[in-house]
Amino acid sequence: MPNHSSKVAYGSHQIRSQCAARRYVEERFRTKLKNARINLFIRRTESKSELLKKYGIEKYDLHPGYEFPESVRDLIPSNVPEYITPPGKNYVKQIVRALYYFKQCALIGPSGTGKTHIVYFIAELTGLPIWEVNCGLQTSTYDLFGRYIGLGKENWIDGQIILWCRNGGILYLDEANMMKQDIAARLNPILDTRGHIVLTEKDNEIVKRHPYGYVIISMNPFSSEFAGTKPLNAAFRIVRAGAELRRQYQMGDLPYGPSPGDLMNWAILIADGSDPLEAAEESIVGTTSDDVEIQETVRRIIKRFFS
Ligand SMILES: Nc1ncnc2c1ncn2[C@@H]1O[C@H](COP(=O)(O)OP(=O)(O)OP(=O)(O)O)[C@@H](O)[C@H]1O
Ligand SMILES: [Mg+2]
Repeated sequence: MPNHSSKVAYGSHQIRSQCAARRYVEERFRTKLKNARINLFIRRTESKSELLKKYGIEKYDLHPGYEFPESVRDLIPSNVPEYITPPGKNYVKQIVRALYYFKQCALIGPSGTGKTHIVYFIAELTGLPIWEVNCGLQTSTYDLFGRYIGLGKENWIDGQIILWCRNGGILYLDEANMMKQDIAARLNPILDTRGHIVLTEKDNEIVKRHPYGYVIISMNPFSSEFAGTKPLNAAFRIVRAGAELRRQYQMGDLPYGPSPGDLMNWAILIADGSDPLEAAEESIVGTTSDDVEIQETVRRIIKRFFS
């Protein structure tokens, strides 16, 4: 029986440069030769298809029949050490499935819990390039959306987010809760059903979100430690409130956790001009339960993100 074992041998944040650690499958054979017992170990690197199977994600092809252009292929991570999953969990599958069905997903957890790591690991498994933006840094809108260089209007350079829109892959917004309001506001149209962005700085060019453009946002949980955190824009608040409701559902505190479809309905009503709490009544509160007390709990949770 092959004995699957994983070795992770690194501990810095420089995940992309950590190429030494590998994933192994170990096969053990026991035999007897005359009176001697022989234990034989054969160790080989675990193949991609074995890993897809191991995590149960073979059926979620995130770019069916599509090969990423040569120019972005080196943004697809390789040799990322395996993400060690706590017993009984399958975060890899949960995230890949969310990307497959809803195109986006939010990771919320304290520093050092492997958010960045799992994103790189998933990008490698699913063969997607990563466009990483650290929202906590003083990244300018030029870096993210693009700019003209030199004189005149000949030399436009796309920023990171526009490159992602055009080429596809994972847009990884790290520390999304630190995102500046102007950037968050511009991102909203690509995150919602409109699926495009208007480049006001480039004669209002409309750039559509690539069909295989996925978004993962990561955030540290809200606490006084992060006093500098800006209030989140509606889209991110929805994602966060949704994540909290689903967490409570998983813990057994709520009878239902809103599906991304419910969250989308909520977002549509807000985008249509409804007050977020009123919109939640129709899309989230009533769907969670008929029980008045539970509905009150849901309202309280939502208010934490929208007041
Ligand atoms: N489940 C895990 N399996 C393997 N390595 C892990 C795991 N969790 C954390 N690590 C390792 O711990 C270190 C910190 O992880 P990572 O940088 O991904 O955390 P993070 O949640 O993104 O933190 P931050 O919020 O500070 O960005 C990395 O070296 C990472 O490889
Ligand atoms: Mg990180």
